[in-house]
Amino acid sequence: MPDAFATPAAAVADGASTRPAADVPGQMLSQRVEQLARRYPDDVGRVIGLLNDVQDECGYLPEEALRAIADLCDVPYEELVASARFFKTLSTEPVGKVVIEVCDGTACHTQGAVRLAQAIADKLGIEVGQTTPDGLFTLRLVHCVGACSVAPVAVVAGTAYGRVKTANADGVIEHARVALEEAGRCGE
Ligand code: FES
Repeated sequence: MPDAFATPAAAVADGASTRPAADVPGQMLSQRVEQLARRYPDDVGRVIGLLNDVQDECGYLPEEALRAIADLCDVPYEELVASARFFKTLSTEPVGKVVIEVCDGTACHTQGAVRLAQAIADKLGIEVGQTTPDGLFTLRLVHCVGACSVAPVAVVAGTAYGRVKTANADGVIEHARVALEEAGRCGE
């Protein structure tokens, strides 16, 4: 791994949000949403809880899952999609092969997380929250990843790196390219 910046912080424990989009048939997604809904017996927090759960499991919000949530929570589908698009930690589009996450929790935000994300986005030629046209990299802002003491933090393919400055944007992308190569080798 290149050592272009900082010291890797602790790897993100479950790496769930960096998983590639799951290719799950619609009926299975619908059943999974029903299972997840048992976590939320009350109406309060059910919609956002389910959106977050599906985002964690699939890496984005597939249309079938959104329709299942809309039915289950009795919310108009279009309204649900608009809500999902409002939150920068949620995505209604499939993700790239490698996900780059910049933590925008309080500690990282105050240490320039948004500037860091924008610098990475500029170098990738996309906006924060988008995937590169070749489908290789997705960049997004996320909630606190639990490494606040080394803020600002970037997570590349599930590995967190601390004290990442805006000037280290190239290093973040280099880590992502290495992760992409390693993923390719695993699939050989
Ligand atoms: S706020 Fe970024 S790791 Fe906690």
